[in-house]
Amino acid sequence: MSRAAFAGTGFYVPDRVVTNGDLARLMDTSDDWIVERTGIRERRWVPEGMSGAEMARRASEMALRSAGMSAGDLDAIILATLSPDHFFPGTGVFLQRELGLEGIPALDVRAQCSGFVYGLSVADAWIRAGQYRTVLLVGVEIQSTGLDVSTRGRDMAVLFGDGAGAAVLTASDEAYRGVLSTHLHADGRFAEVLWGEFSSSKHHPRITPEIMTAGRHYPSMEGREVFKHAVSRMPEVVEEALHANGLTPDDISLLIPHQANLRITEMVRRRLGLPEDRVVNNIDRYGNTTAATIPIALSEAVHEGRLHRGDLVCMVAFGSGFTWGSALLRW
Ligand code: ACO
Repeated sequence: MSRAAFAGTGFYVPDRVVTNGDLARLMDTSDDWIVERTGIRERRWVPEGMSGAEMARRASEMALRSAGMSAGDLDAIILATLSPDHFFPGTGVFLQRELGLEGIPALDVRAQCSGFVYGLSVADAWIRAGQYRTVLLVGVEIQSTGLDVSTRGRDMAVLFGDGAGAAVLTASDEAYRGVLSTHLHADGRFAEVLWGEFSSSKHHPRITPEIMTAGRHYPSMEGREVFKHAVSRMPEVVEEALHANGLTPDDISLLIPHQANLRITEMVRRRLGLPEDRVVNNIDRYGNTTAATIPIALSEAVHEGRLHRGDLVCMVAFGSGFTWGSALLRW
């Protein structure tokens, strides 16, 4: 049976670098506080008018180039984001149009920080079922236009950044190449612990001046609660994947965790007993780009030559929902 294998990867981040010092001029925060609590030193923000679809296209073009393919080779698009360019239609169709394509399906995935791993699971299932052979999978996020960059919103505003990561997945018939398994979870009891409450189709009108004055259109988070769950669920779902495949943490060549917070990643790494050089970290440069963190980190690792044929790669994510998941694959 064929399964999904990575044929190419790419990423795009905007040129505009926003340092912790830049944020300290907008709100009561400091470089020391941000670095110590999160490991983030800078992040990228889109320039006025740049869309998620445009970033996704740039990342996708790099992924197609590295796969030696062109957009016309794609059978389907899956795009993961929590910050769609519009309420509807999904950003996937705008990306499809940007790539000059028509007719092939474009599916948006709404699983927040876990979106890329959820999307990979769908792509792998499509490929295993023989429905599609070549799938473009993208994670893209514009967080900067939705953050409260005043002291009121500092707990969230310092964490997030913008960017896109992409992968071209193709059917592989090689026994030692491709996705071994994906393990997905969600627990909606915690939906409001990290969420964007407004604008909301549950309310009529969906947003009011009063809601905006109160700042309820900005995302909100109980940071400690998120932290507590992330550091348990992430190692748990890695162990679930390893167990399902008869493998141990020692077998992992490279762990690519969702980049939420360096302290979270460190706790996950220690719990799994992995050395530092087998875990990818780039949060210092990009912050948390939500659905885009894993594909950006993967693409950087590939283009830095950190992955070799046959390596065991593990991706693990946790985020709003709560949603979490892991993917194990042979490179
Ligand atoms: N700068 C300075 N002070 C701040 C900032 C800031 N940016 N943000 C909050 N503070 C203050 C708080 O107001 C609080 O002040 P007080 O003690 O006077 O009330 C103090 O710092 C401590 O706040 P806590 O929220 O308790 O700080 P904590 O040590 O928990 O760190 C953080 C906050 C970094 C958000 C942490 O809880 C965390 O990383 N949580 C995980 C959340 C996460 O990663 N979310 C990302 C999205 S989800 C995902 O991708 C997994």
